[in-house]
Amino acid sequence: MAKFNIEKTKESRISEVDWNNLRFGVYFSDHIFISDFVDGKWDGGRIEPYRALPMEPGLCTLHYGQTIFEGLKAFKSAKGGANIFRPDMNANRLNNSAKMVCLPEFDVDTLIEGIKELVMLDRQWIPQERGQSLYIRPVMFGSSNFLGVTASPTTRLIVMTSPVASYYAEGLKPIKILVSTEYVRAVKGGVGMAKTAANYAASLKAGMEAHSKGFSQVLWLDGVNRKDIDEVGAMNIMFVIDGELITPSLDKGSILAGITRGTVLNLAKEMGMKVTERNISIDEVIDAHNKGILNEVFGTGTAAVISPVGMLSYLDKEYVINNMEIGPVAQKFYDTITAIQYGEVEDTRKWNVKIDF
Ligand SMILES: Cc1ncc(COP(=O)(O)O)c(C=O)c1O
Repeated sequence: MAKFNIEKTKESRISEVDWNNLRFGVYFSDHIFISDFVDGKWDGGRIEPYRALPMEPGLCTLHYGQTIFEGLKAFKSAKGGANIFRPDMNANRLNNSAKMVCLPEFDVDTLIEGIKELVMLDRQWIPQERGQSLYIRPVMFGSSNFLGVTASPTTRLIVMTSPVASYYAEGLKPIKILVSTEYVRAVKGGVGMAKTAANYAASLKAGMEAHSKGFSQVLWLDGVNRKDIDEVGAMNIMFVIDGELITPSLDKGSILAGITRGTVLNLAKEMGMKVTERNISIDEVIDAHNKGILNEVFGTGTAAVISPVGMLSYLDKEYVINNMEIGPVAQKFYDTITAIQYGEVEDTRKWNVKIDF
């Protein structure tokens, strides 16, 4: 059945996993999917044991950051086997990121097949409990050794997986967010829409400073006027104002097109909510708060699915939202999306790629 060459590990490391303490991204499953782009084409791809790979100090991506990645999850399904949630969306976004940093695109179907094969082989690594999942991390980078500032002629794609805990060990707890007026993440015309390593390096300092002040994440404003809302550290952001769901539009050119964002917008329209993708400024949000019509704020992303925001801090003033409680809209999206992911309801929209075992 396997389309790819598979070299199985001689010794599984699964006994090293502390299943009761699955911190994010610290355990790596036994195998990886790997493919190389050489002489203008991708090889067929193969599966190998997870192990250290040889690297020269001159590896171009270390110097100039020609790296992109993705993040998606496989869930133990209530119907048996596992569900991988919307991998086609991640594969397409990987290719959009690739175009932005001059890496070659990878065939979407081959990537999905490679992920399926990898998850099937390491199915023992899929955590069993509701809320837990197997995080899937594709990463693509320039793989040649040279110091010229040009695109790498060769590229490597690796997919690794990692068992992760529920983001919410103690239920959906609203987070506190600092609206950054000092730092910016991206501007139109830059690489803010790409899931490229540089964006994350650039966000670390602001994130650490926010943490040290007791905030979970940073809310980024646009890089030019420092007024319009972009997104949160690793999430898109949504507002419910007077019953209307509002989120920054992708044509801003500076935010990541989140898969969860798209999923929520899709569901909201199905539910008959008024949904608007448009520019929204921090002033408008504060104004809505002052008028008492800022019903809910929440982030959307693969890690947490939905992350309610209980407080925004802007220019040293704190704005508490919905009494620091999760609102009904955020709760509804969380419940609906996770029920689909864990196979507890019919997947009528065909969002899951199923793996039978
Ligand atoms: C900067 C940024 N924005 C938004 C998201 C949310 O995207 P998704 O819903 O695809 O996880 C992520 C996470 O991948 C992110 O890193």
